[in-house]
Amino acid sequence: MERIRLRVALAAIVIVSILTACVPIEPGAGNGEAATRSQTSSSSEPSISSSLDTSKYENVWVKAIEEVENDGRSLLRVAYPFTEHEEINARMEAVTQVFIDEYRRTAAEIEASYQEYKAETGREAATFVTHFRQHFDVSAADESLIFFDLVRSINTGGTGNAYVVGYIFDRRSGAELALPDLFVDESYLERLSVLTREALAQRVSKEELASDLDWVEDGTAPTAANFDNILLRTDDGTFLVRFDKYQVAAGVEGDVEVALPLVDIADLLKPEVRELLGIEREAEQSGTGGIETDAGYAEAGMVFAFDGARNLANLAGLSTAFPTAHSLAGPGVGLLQMFGAGRQDSLLSDESVNCQEVACVALTFDDGPSFYTDGLLDILREHDVRATFFVLGTQVRIQSETVARMFREGHQIGNHTWDHPNLTNMPDEQIQEQLRLTDDLIVQLIGEPTPFLRPPYGAYNDRVLAASGLPIIFWSVDPLDWRDRDAAIVAARIMEAPVGAIILAHDIHKSTVDAVPAIIDALRGRGIAFVTVSKLFEPEELHAQNVYKRQPDLPAEQ
Ligand code: NI
Repeated sequence: MERIRLRVALAAIVIVSILTACVPIEPGAGNGEAATRSQTSSSSEPSISSSLDTSKYENVWVKAIEEVENDGRSLLRVAYPFTEHEEINARMEAVTQVFIDEYRRTAAEIEASYQEYKAETGREAATFVTHFRQHFDVSAADESLIFFDLVRSINTGGTGNAYVVGYIFDRRSGAELALPDLFVDESYLERLSVLTREALAQRVSKEELASDLDWVEDGTAPTAANFDNILLRTDDGTFLVRFDKYQVAAGVEGDVEVALPLVDIADLLKPEVRELLGIEREAEQSGTGGIETDAGYAEAGMVFAFDGARNLANLAGLSTAFPTAHSLAGPGVGLLQMFGAGRQDSLLSDESVNCQEVACVALTFDDGPSFYTDGLLDILREHDVRATFFVLGTQVRIQSETVARMFREGHQIGNHTWDHPNLTNMPDEQIQEQLRLTDDLIVQLIGEPTPFLRPPYGAYNDRVLAASGLPIIFWSVDPLDWRDRDAAIVAARIMEAPVGAIILAHDIHKSTVDAVPAIIDALRGRGIAFVTVSKLFEPEELHAQNVYKRQPDLPAEQ
């Protein structure tokens, strides 16, 4: 793992140095000179450059494109392979172009929203950078086959995401190969399932991976979709199975990689692939020695410990009450009235909904408030829908009026930390500081602390559970709205939500906000009501140190 990361980092350094050293070969109209790359505070002229240069791999060149615009708020930096084979080049260019198009659309959209918000409100909002980067690596190559990895990172606000996509080509024909083409038959899926399950379960049990066994089992079921990203390496006798972000673990882990000895699958590879990887003899000698540990997997009993952890004695009172707009009381009322939040006769009350009798779901929004959130609140009000917002303290500080409005209009507000760190890496005091800073602001605004936590990236362990002293609200439906910025796609995924679902979404993406009216219509059409998280579980009280992913005990939709 370490070595592989190092290699990716080295590839990045090589490419960055090419980008900074090269002379642009096809500058954009009149603005491609290197000098324009240094930003001046008033300039929003885009700076565009591209180049073609040699790489460290034989017969592979680097095509690179860089764009900087919106005073540096938007940046694209991509490099992709150029080879002796036209068909390979066309494919690599096409997949890179999709990424570039996504960048341009996203950057324009975010910048327009930002400018619009500023013009309309005269207020500051959190500004978002839009940074898209891609570089590549060659993981294996001979005269017949070549494996490319495109390594991408996307940052569009509070959170960044990185992922790697592998491509395999037949160098003689230029044809792209699919993973199953490398294996003699489909039995490799079963083998990969067993091997990766065991490796991941061990990491979960050592708390090296923020996940649990159910998650691992689902993500490693022997299907082609689960194993669509595998890299076979020539240099160290391993192969790498990559799982998508959230496939087998919390998002903080990003893509999860499992490195395993090639000999463990050598007998299932086609002979020519074995030859490329130089494993023929090893395979004959050591067979499939890696899989006999299968039995130990089921017996190990490595259950991720959050069920039954109801040690509330020293946490009593911290988290078992659920303040909502309907339970206003206590010292916060003065402040609430300052913001006009004391209107208990609101027409927006969802008090009439009883989720024991009516099918319900909870719609939740993370990472805001952003400059899209007021528009979202308009939509929710128009449709008389209540949601739950997991807010970041850094955003609350800038857009406190938006948060006051959420509360006033009957939505529930949960803690998503101060600035979105991975809590599993932090000492207890820092975890508590992350929650307290945000809570202090929230209490000032609405007079109540946040009743529960959603940890950033969905990353938690026993220590986070204990240190937070709060129930953790996870989710059961993830539309991947951070990745697919398309309202129709996001809406289609959420429309399928089962009764009792906690639905994850992000109010920092315009596409997500745009999807909401269709989501409301579709789920209401199925007879499903939208409620806050605490309402979803009523009359049950949520308990500190428990993790809630859905409400399983609800009546079916009518
Ligand atoms: Ni988040």
